This record gives sequence, C-alpha cells and structure tokens, in this order.
Amino acid sequence: MPVQLVDHPLVHDALVALRDKRTTPEHFRRAATRISVLLAAEALRELPTSSTTVDTPLGPAAGRRLAPDVVVVPVLRAGLGMLEAVLELVPSARVGHIGLQRDELTAVASQYYAKLPASLDASYVLMIDPMLATGGSAVAALDLLGRAGAHVVRIVCIVAAPEGIALVEQRHPHVVIYTPVVDEGLNQHKFIVPGLGDFGDRLYGTV
Ligand code: PRP
Ligand code: URA
Repeated sequence: MPVQLVDHPLVHDALVALRDKRTTPEHFRRAATRISVLLAAEALRELPTSSTTVDTPLGPAAGRRLAPDVVVVPVLRAGLGMLEAVLELVPSARVGHIGLQRDELTAVASQYYAKLPASLDASYVLMIDPMLATGGSAVAALDLLGRAGAHVVRIVCIVAAPEGIALVEQRHPHVVIYTPVVDEGLNQHKFIVPGLGDFGDRLYGTV
C-alpha cells in the first residue's frame, strides 16, 4: 500500500488555505504547520512503544513511551515548512537535511546539501517534502537515505501527483507515502495541477 490518503476535516481545511492564491506567506506558514501536525501524526501511528510506569501525584500509572529512534528529514527548502510541526510531536527526533533544487527548465533535481545523522539502519525515518511532482526529488532523497543505511522510510507530503507516486513506487516500492490528496497531474512546466503553486516561494515570500 504505497499511498495512505489522510482524510480529516482539519487537513482539508488547512489544504484549502494553502491552495488559495490569496493566502499570504504568514498564513501559508501557519496552515503548513497545522496540516503537517496532522499528517505526521498519521504517518507515525504505527510507531512501536514500550511499556512503562510513572508516578502521578496519586500513585503509579501504566503508560507507553516511544521505542524507536525517529529521524526526520526535511527536503530543503520547502520541507522546512513542515519541520517544526514534526518536532512538536517528536521532540527527541534527530534531524537530517537534504538540499535539492529543481532546474527551472528541465525540472531535474540536483543536490546541493546533505547532512544526515549517523546509524540510520535502526531508525524510523520520516522524510518531509510538501510537493511530490515528478518524483525526481523524492527519489534522489530516498536514494541518499538508502545509501546512508535507512531501511524504514515514510514520506509525508501535502500535494502529490500521480506521476510522482508512480516513480517512487517503481524505484522504492517499500516506501509509504502519506498525503491528503492526489491531484490531476503535471502541467508542461512540471508543476502540479491544480496544486498550490511553488510551495517554497509561497512559504518564504520569494515569488
Ligand atoms: C520543490 C518541492 C520538492 C520538489 C518536487 O522543491 O519542495 O522538493 O520541488 O518536485 P519533483 O517531484 O518534480 O522533484 P524545489 O526544487 O522547487 O526547491 P525549493 O524547495 O527550494 O523551493
Ligand atoms: N514544486 C512546487 O513547489 N510545486 C509544484 O507544483 C511542483 C514542484
């Protein structure tokens, strides 16, 4: 099951704010954080926990703590707009960064930065990148994570295109993609239609 559609009223409410071309960077950032909390919570639903006991002021209470090492990897730059939300959910997560930039003419992604935590083989890796368009950036990031030893990787995105999903499925069949929506497809500039435009530009006001 490579795609998990996250269907929640709050997700759709934030998505419509992100899509709206009138949304300012300030409100765009807030909607990005809001939707990312919900998407990440869903992507982390299967995280194993270990049993524990804590003392409340009234006595012992059984509970569960996160068991695995969680590593979150934003794909720069747009993925940074989702990072704060994930760290709010998993404050102990380690963070890796992968910098990828699509060429404006060819839409081919090239890597300009990478810094990953060590020992990813036993980690639960959450790759965050809001837009899955051709899938070129996602596959480049997944290739890098694979070479770094990552075995369990989930992608959280905000808008996905069928082309990107197909490429990830073909090249990394074990990776699960969490998204609220699969849009119609790509235009001649390889932008998602209807999509929301250039996520990074709208996030940072660089349009
Ligand atoms: C965007 C987006 C993805 C990529 C998706 O980044 O954040 O990384 O495009 O497109 P793809 O699936 O066709 O590869 P962009 O390269 O525009 O860089 P930015 O985040 O710095 O704006
Ligand atoms: N990157 C974006 O920010 N938006 C798209 O539609 C495609 C790639």
